[in-house]
Amino acid sequence: MQAIVLRELGGPERLVLETAADPAPGPGEAVVRLRAAALNRRDAWIRQGQYAGIRLPIILGSDGAGEVTAVGEGVDRAWPGTAVVINPSLEWGPDSRAQGPSFRILGLPDHGTYAELVKVPAANLYRKPASLSWEAAAAIPLAGLTAYRALVTRARLQPGETVLVTGVGGGVATFALLFALHLGARVVVTSGSDAKIARARELGAAGGANYRLDGWGQAIARLTDGGPHVIVDSAGREAFPTLLEVVRPGGRIVTFGATTGSASTVEVRRVFWKQVDILGSTMGTPEEFSSMLALFDRGLEPVIDRTFPLAAAADAHRRMDQADQFGKLVLTIQPQA
Ligand SMILES: NC(=O)c1ccc[n+]([C@@H]2O[C@H](COP(=O)([O-])OP(=O)(O)OC[C@H]3O[C@@H](n4cnc5c(N)ncnc54)[C@H](OP(=O)(O)O)[C@@H]3O)[C@@H](O)[C@H]2O)c1
Repeated sequence: MQAIVLRELGGPERLVLETAADPAPGPGEAVVRLRAAALNRRDAWIRQGQYAGIRLPIILGSDGAGEVTAVGEGVDRAWPGTAVVINPSLEWGPDSRAQGPSFRILGLPDHGTYAELVKVPAANLYRKPASLSWEAAAAIPLAGLTAYRALVTRARLQPGETVLVTGVGGGVATFALLFALHLGARVVVTSGSDAKIARARELGAAGGANYRLDGWGQAIARLTDGGPHVIVDSAGREAFPTLLEVVRPGGRIVTFGATTGSASTVEVRRVFWKQVDILGSTMGTPEEFSSMLALFDRGLEPVIDRTFPLAAAADAHRRMDQADQFGKLVLTIQPQA
């Protein structure tokens, strides 16, 4: 098969298409012929060497959609020929509250989806919503799952509440915007780009503030009349002190990432005096993946920024490095002749 194999850490130019061995399914596994894959910030962190447990060479990629071509022992023989979306949350474990010790994410240490073929546990196959293109289906898994658990399971978002989604141009953030609107919330956003705030408004956001400008916290407070009930954040260090200032008393802040750094000063007094819940969230359970995917049977469409052919994965990474995207960066994979 053809695959983008990362052999050395570094810039996007390290992502080179080469011929790799076709995977074969072991017991309980399936092989999927991919038609599209998608990027996550994780892929860029790994490429740059800023991720735990890196093993090289590695085929990156957590998101993929395609057709099952082969299954191993113990797997339902009805799968081959089925159009599927892959859940990249591997071996979550028995406790829905947190992943277990065997949990891992497709695309490191297991080879991922920047390839014509990928091998995954059959338990991670889900039927592709029929109305979605390959590209749309591939855009969903990791980011959709993360946004869904953060908003629905962790924050328990209620209709009529106000949500702040920070850094709305990000892949997960665009899903958080879509899901929060779908659940009947009023959504405000931050972004480093006024054009991205305008795009978010076109999608249904009530307004936003540019986090590059002083006073963005006050702007959010004005837009939300007492502060958001729920904040969904992955900016981390740079945003967190201001988020604690603007969150409504009794509100919830869900954190699932640290794009601007992890170590942040928390004004503890604000946490207890405002009765704030700070909630951590990562990926999600198989049940959450299933419920999340079902939303796309009911007319939701992921936000795709741009598509690139698999061979141009380096160009897609350059766009992510520059934070130019609004929504998901997708790789299209042509069927083999
Ligand atoms: N725990 C998990 O399960 C999990 C899952 C997925 C992702 N993550 C983490 O979540 C983060 C986002 O991932 P992604 O794939 O969605 O990445 P992405 O598409 O690259 O989005 C990152 C976004 O961060 C925003 N940002 C940058 N600086 C900011 C700041 N100072 N304040 C607010 N926002 C800022 C930018 O938004 P604008 O472009 O609008 O300025 C950018 O688009 C990454 O750190 C990733 O590692 C964690």
